[in-house]
Amino acid sequence: METKKLDIVGGDYQKNIDAAAKILKNGGIVAVPTETVYGLAASAVLDEPIINVFKAKGRPQDNPLIVHISDMDMLEKIAAEIPKSAKKCAEKFWPGPFTMVLKRTDYVSNRVCAGLDTVAVRCPSEKSIRDIIKASGIPLAAPSANISGAPSPTTYSHVINDLDGKIDAVVCGEDCLYGVESTVVALFGEHPRLLRPGAVTLEELREVLPDIEVDKAILEEPEKDEKVASPGMKYKHYAPKTEAFLVEADEVSFADFVNKKEDCLALCFAEESELITVEKKIYGKKTDEFTLAKNLFSALRSIDNLNKKAVYIHAPSKSGVGLAVYNRLIRACAFRVIKL
Ligand code: TXA
Ligand code: MG
Repeated sequence: METKKLDIVGGDYQKNIDAAAKILKNGGIVAVPTETVYGLAASAVLDEPIINVFKAKGRPQDNPLIVHISDMDMLEKIAAEIPKSAKKCAEKFWPGPFTMVLKRTDYVSNRVCAGLDTVAVRCPSEKSIRDIIKASGIPLAAPSANISGAPSPTTYSHVINDLDGKIDAVVCGEDCLYGVESTVVALFGEHPRLLRPGAVTLEELREVLPDIEVDKAILEEPEKDEKVASPGMKYKHYAPKTEAFLVEADEVSFADFVNKKEDCLALCFAEESELITVEKKIYGKKTDEFTLAKNLFSALRSIDNLNKKAVYIHAPSKSGVGLAVYNRLIRACAFRVIKL
């Protein structure tokens, strides 16, 4: 199929938003920008488009999708129970890079939730996807718009690389503001539980949800066949073909370590770049984790072009947005961590 390119930056914004909404209403699948990563959107209330999303991505059937809404009325249709904690989180973190998992009604397709009795819901802040939801009048299921296992797309050209010819259209907007997927919190159990860290940080969550627990799958490799709270956590993700290692070290030890390696790439911080004598790529500033998040997936996508034997990636701190970056990197490195 031909994938239409709907340019909302250089082209006519409203015309292209309306075109995307129309394709979605008619059961098509369209990649759209959000403030986190580009999503592959489909009507959450129809089976067929959801099946097509799984097919286009090559996504395992047991990994449920996030439903995107534009207002609280939509949440009431989708969630069977909205606990006080969810209302507080919605007030504080929506619209924005925050997803809550709640008990569900039958409003959205069973296929969206992969057979679970819960649903993940997010109200994004990016104007274009909000306008598309409003114009179509339907909630949109949207996983990240990449081939399953590849780094999530943070520019429309990443989407085109992965999915051109496999989906109906791409809404070509700006590069994504945050660059990592939303924070996911389960709010249906006895205690709130962080399932995936993102740009809404654990420190911010603790202010609203003092008893929040952190799922151990965030920083550890799940055992074989272990049942994980968020099915997405058990899959190998984001990994380049080049063998990748995550290195926990201070700046001098990191430089000493990589400078002795042959045929390698160092993925490093701006502040330490001058110490490194092997081929290097900067992915942001150590002191500003938002820059690391924003450039992370582009950097991971570019590694294989260099045909190196190995890539050594300097691990960020696990605080603030650093926790989200660390969580993605540990998967990209297939849990190979070197501590110096
Ligand atoms: O920022 C984002 O969240 C992006 C943009 C497009 O909004 N979307 C995204 O979707 O990252 P995806 O499908 O790549 O990740 C969804 C995550 C997966 O880890 C999945 O397992 C989890 O959310 N999830 C979805 N429904 C769930 C549920 N009912 N219970 C537990 N985890 C769930
Ligand atoms: Mg994804």
